[in-house]
Amino acid sequence: MKNHVIKGNICYSATKDALSVTENGYVVCQEGRCAGVYENLPKEYETLPCHNYEDKIIIPGLVDLHVHAPQYTFRGMGMDLELIDWLNTRTFAEEAKYEDLEYAEKAYGIFAEDLRTSATTRACIFGTIHTEATLLLMEKLDRTGLQVCVGKVNMDRNSPQYLCEESAEKSAKDTEEWLQKCQRFHNVRPILTPRFTPSCTDELLEKLSELQKKYHLPVQSHLSENLGEIDWVKELCPGTSCYGESYDRYGLFGNGCPTIMAHCVHSGDKEMEMMLKQNVFVAHCPESNANLSSGVAPVKKYLENGMKVGLGSDIAGGTSLSIFKAMAMAVQCSKLRWRLHDQSVGPLTMEEVFYMATKGGGEFFGKVGSFEKGYEFDAVVLDDSSLRHPQKLSVKERLERLIYLADGRSMTAKFVNGHVVYRESQDGIKTTVDGNDSGHGAGQR
Ligand code: GUN
Ligand code: FE
Repeated sequence: MKNHVIKGNICYSATKDALSVTENGYVVCQEGRCAGVYENLPKEYETLPCHNYEDKIIIPGLVDLHVHAPQYTFRGMGMDLELIDWLNTRTFAEEAKYEDLEYAEKAYGIFAEDLRTSATTRACIFGTIHTEATLLLMEKLDRTGLQVCVGKVNMDRNSPQYLCEESAEKSAKDTEEWLQKCQRFHNVRPILTPRFTPSCTDELLEKLSELQKKYHLPVQSHLSENLGEIDWVKELCPGTSCYGESYDRYGLFGNGCPTIMAHCVHSGDKEMEMMLKQNVFVAHCPESNANLSSGVAPVKKYLENGMKVGLGSDIAGGTSLSIFKAMAMAVQCSKLRWRLHDQSVGPLTMEEVFYMATKGGGEFFGKVGSFEKGYEFDAVVLDDSSLRHPQKLSVKERLERLIYLADGRSMTAKFVNGHVVYRESQDGIKTTVDGNDSGHGAGQR
């Protein structure tokens, strides 16, 4: 259903510092896009079907800018390690299992179903090096109606033999074949995914850059996550002034190549300047950065500088798919950073983390993450009635509480592009995917 209206308490970010709240308001959806938020429904829309969600809270769908689907199986395990040891002992061994399609079928089935029933409407997702398993993941996600980008991972060095592509040439060839097979999907788009500089040779980055230009693809990778990793990149890439330059010298760092870099915990001035100038998106993943002892990114500074920032769950560095949890942890970690490390960058506000979870990350997909006119109609209806309180709270207070307290019972319905992709029914949970096939704008900004 592409033209309809929903009624409830409507909240969205007007700017990073301003939350717009319309109590008992209406959001109008026309051709999959928002036609506006109204206190009183204009006459011209009175004939449209209207679903009244009464006192529930309606927000834009949440955006997860960085998540590893194959790692969903080992969440919460191996959390005593730092990045490189964690990759070598836990992560690579798990990812190798996806060569087996029977395993991938089961594991990706669980991941796709849990993402469908979360409050996330858009996501940028890593697969593994395996083409067939990645296609299987894309097929499962396509059926959820969510709009997502998925990448077949590239890695041709510094990786165990069981998870290392045979050569740059073979990695690029497999990637191009995978790209051709991706054309059948409606809601899922491919994204180039060099894992990170330590696992990609110069020759491979060069070849991926050619594919990027040929197919106008977006790119996702990791940047300046861990201090040991940064030292390693310096050794691997002599002559580069910062980690970001190891991607930039192959044209894989913004500047016409839509790019998401996860983490950016330890980015210096030069790297920040490049990200700002070249419109590179930062995926801030606070839970992962705590679990892997990576540190805390100066996200408030990034926002104030005008950089593009969204949130990521970074499963399995992070343990939870919930972007509500990422919002709460972003605030908590920013407070510790401010108190213990750097008084020049203050703690994040509720408005800022809500912005990053919606409009900030949503921008990667085009006009996504707000209910302003012209934005794609992605909405989540929230029910906080199980979070009992003796007094009447304002809508803003209720949303603030949901950021910390939302759980599996909190979502009543979810829309993507104007279509229902999830709806709770009296007798349990049921799927309603009504043929969402309009595609999205990643890489077309
Ligand atoms: N850097 C390279 N690979 C990974 C990964 O799988 N997770 C995280 N958090 N960082 C990485
Ligand atoms: Fe990651």
